Amino acid sequence: MRQKAVPKRLKDVDVAISERISTGMREVDRVLGGGLVKDGVSILTAKPGAGKSTLLLEIAGQLAKAGIRTLYASGEESASQIKSRALRILSEIPDEVYLLQANSMEDIEDAVREIQPAVFFVDSIQTIESHDLPARAGSPTQTVHCTARIVDLCKDPEAPKACIMVGHMTKSEEMAGLRTLEHLVDTVLFLDNDGTESLRVLRSTKNRFGYTGEIGLFQMEENGMVEVVDPYALFLTKREVPVDGAAVALILEGNRLIPVEVEALVSRSQAPYPMRIGDSLKRDQLNTLISILEQKAGLSLYESNVVLKTTGGLRLGEQAADMAIMCAIASSAMGFAIASDICFVAEVGLTGELKRISQIERRLKELDRMGFRTCYVAKGTSYPKLEAMKVKPMRDIRSVIMDLK
Ligand code: TYD
Ligand code: MG
Repeated sequence: MRQKAVPKRLKDVDVAISERISTGMREVDRVLGGGLVKDGVSILTAKPGAGKSTLLLEIAGQLAKAGIRTLYASGEESASQIKSRALRILSEIPDEVYLLQANSMEDIEDAVREIQPAVFFVDSIQTIESHDLPARAGSPTQTVHCTARIVDLCKDPEAPKACIMVGHMTKSEEMAGLRTLEHLVDTVLFLDNDGTESLRVLRSTKNRFGYTGEIGLFQMEENGMVEVVDPYALFLTKREVPVDGAAVALILEGNRLIPVEVEALVSRSQAPYPMRIGDSLKRDQLNTLISILEQKAGLSLYESNVVLKTTGGLRLGEQAADMAIMCAIASSAMGFAIASDICFVAEVGLTGELKRISQIERRLKELDRMGFRTCYVAKGTSYPKLEAMKVKPMRDIRSVIMDLK
């Protein structure tokens, strides 16, 4: 019988603490906001070959190792293909991983009801079709219908289940027909492999159960996706003698501080339009920083190609990296090297002035702890007592460059 909906005072509403299931992978749990929610539905999307199937099989393996029953339903690969991948990436194949090779929604539902996994995986939603509809697999009607049925399977109050399904992404970086699916699920995960051979960055673009700023770091290796335990080693280059065109930034990804070396190469352009190349930064932002260097620091770059990248391939989303990017470019253009124990943390305004950034005290303490000797910051920054690191407050980018030369 239908239950009538009745309004309540907000303050009288009880909060249901959603139970979390740890995936056994710290980097995945972090992005999910502390693990899978027991009736949560997620979509994992990425370009082909990024490592979605590998990651999900690893999660299944980890969960099963902890005694949690999982079902991996694949419409993409044969059971034997999946087995051979599992042999490669899992040290042993635990009992609680079940496999279903299927393209039918009804088969998946039957298997889930029969096996009762706590977590199941569907790889991919575009290969699953329901016999209730005449449309073919991958069409918007099928994907929406099948996703809704998966949500129903998971949100069963008697037997809640968590699901992660794969959603394909097209070349144009759109989730293929998945915009509508985003509304149906609780969490949208994106596995980024742009511009790099091995680095994979997991982000959430939507999370009903947590904050979306956290990232998970992995490297695709011979034996699958390996969690990055020490990001410091990955994004910095150890060298005895400093070289031109490198400067270190400290960026905040979610709640984690990561020092990243920015590399720049400035060379004379042979073409009428110089090249600006840099996967780790939005093109507009790179052009803006170059313009500021020209107008406010007296560099002439209009006949120069500028190539920018980061060690390890991490993207520079945070504006706190502005000063390091500009110093790396100036270092390459003007031919002076910056010692690798110097770090730069400030946003740079269109006026060329340095701007203070969030959580500066925490950042400086961390840099000090890591053994950096000098840190350039914006004037007016208040900072804590530090062990060994010298803080250099500066007014604008021009004075920073003058000071480095
Ligand atoms: P896959 O998980 O199949 O990607 P997706 O499901 O996102 O399309 O993995 C894709 C690539 O990863 C594949 O081309 C080979 C490589 N790979 C490794 O480098 N190491 C491994 O252990 C595995 C399983 C794959
Ligand atoms: Mg795959």
